[in-house]
Amino acid sequence: MAATCVIGLQWGDEAKGKIVDFLTAQNEIVVRYQGGANAGHTVVFGGAKYKLSLIPSGIFRPEVRSCIASGVVIDPASLLGEIERLRESGVEIEKNLFISNRAHVIFPWHKEEDRLMNDSGVRTEAIGTTGRGIGPCYRDKVGRSTAVRIGDLYRDDFPEKVRKIVAIKNGYLPGMAKNDEIRATVKPLDADEIIAEYTEYAKRLKPFVGDVVSYLLDAVDADKNILLEGAQGSMLDVDYGTFPYVTSSNSSGVGVIAGSGLPARFIKRVVGVIKAYTTRVGGGPFPTELKDDVGQRIRDRGHEYGTVTKRPRRCGWFDAVAVRYTSRLGGVSELSVMLLDVLSGFDEINVCVAYELDGKRIDYMPADVDELARVKPIYETLPGWQEEIDQVKTYDALPENAKKYLERVSQLIGKPIAFVSVGPGREQTIIL
Ligand code: GDP
Ligand code: IMO
Ligand code: MG
Repeated sequence: MAATCVIGLQWGDEAKGKIVDFLTAQNEIVVRYQGGANAGHTVVFGGAKYKLSLIPSGIFRPEVRSCIASGVVIDPASLLGEIERLRESGVEIEKNLFISNRAHVIFPWHKEEDRLMNDSGVRTEAIGTTGRGIGPCYRDKVGRSTAVRIGDLYRDDFPEKVRKIVAIKNGYLPGMAKNDEIRATVKPLDADEIIAEYTEYAKRLKPFVGDVVSYLLDAVDADKNILLEGAQGSMLDVDYGTFPYVTSSNSSGVGVIAGSGLPARFIKRVVGVIKAYTTRVGGGPFPTELKDDVGQRIRDRGHEYGTVTKRPRRCGWFDAVAVRYTSRLGGVSELSVMLLDVLSGFDEINVCVAYELDGKRIDYMPADVDELARVKPIYETLPGWQEEIDQVKTYDALPENAKKYLERVSQLIGKPIAFVSVGPGREQTIIL
């Protein structure tokens, strides 16, 4: 009886949603604990495909409680849209969804700041955010003075608070624009409109809101099984990722405790999710990126287009330097290798085993983003396999070269593989 957490070990979209849905069957509670509607998690079963942004991927099991914990930043419109879509698909929400009153709220000013600061001109390359207001909301949370939590929506002073914040934001938003042309597009915020809109959201969300922290601590005392669902990937972690080309939360293993409020000692199992190759959306260095036909082939076979923004994902070979780093950082106990089927049909497959930095071989992740942008991947080449594997049900039935590839990846990372995924469906999962 304990907590298991599922974290992405690359730059996001490792298919965490699929493995969370799969593992939910063994748990009583599933918790999303950081990030927001920048996440796009996909669950496929029974011939249907579901996209989730804020609601935990465990929501499809009616006997399981799905919690949005305090570390998540919530865009109420986005959350209500998701609730509606799930209701329409016949998914049981009413008794299962539980939202923390401590979680912070995303407002229109956050999205506007995101638009203005994403390409601020301070750096040569834009961060390429999802535009969901995530960074600005976390900035306000840490800054405190202009932050609003879910619980605040129900206080009598909520309208007054919004009026004060809007006055401050209207004062500085135009100054965030990097030039006059963009400044001309900044429209003043209307406090009354925002108050009316958010009062209505608050009313609709009310049945789901409560003290998730107390609930989870009671669950710990009662020795319940809890599954924690990470968003983004460890390389996008604000402290340990490729800063500043990261998201604004701790999306590696270090974020689980702060985001959920669960005691560290309770976490017994950490499943590190990896793609059999690498993808990244948005700006920032990506040592194994393939800008050629091979990258395009991976994109086509893996349908590598963003769940949230539909942007084409940048594709490349598996980077064992990055994953060894993030799996050690996260205290990973086992790996889940996803989208292995995408690699069928290659004569040879490369794995990055080290980097070359200014003529020297290194096996660690440089802290400086400009150094990381300069590294050249050192590859080991493994033989590929031609067979399609999406119908394979057991590890033994995989092609020999696919098994050799998995063994090498596991050896390079230094962690055992617990699951191999060969297709988006629940049943396309091999347990080792
Ligand atoms: P997440 O953000 O980590 O939950 O991942 P996304 O949902 O953004 O992206 C993963 C994509 O891969 C989704 O479209 C999944 O349906 C799909 N997928 C998951 N596992 C597999 C697999 O083993 N093979 C293939 N071909 N697709 C998969
Ligand atoms: P899931 O949970 C992939 C990326 C954005 C951008 C950077 C900052 O589906 O794996 P943000 O809007 O968070 O300020 O953007 O982080 N990013 C993701 N990339 N998967 C995600 O989530 C991501 N969430 C944010 O593309 O580069
Ligand atoms: Mg995703």
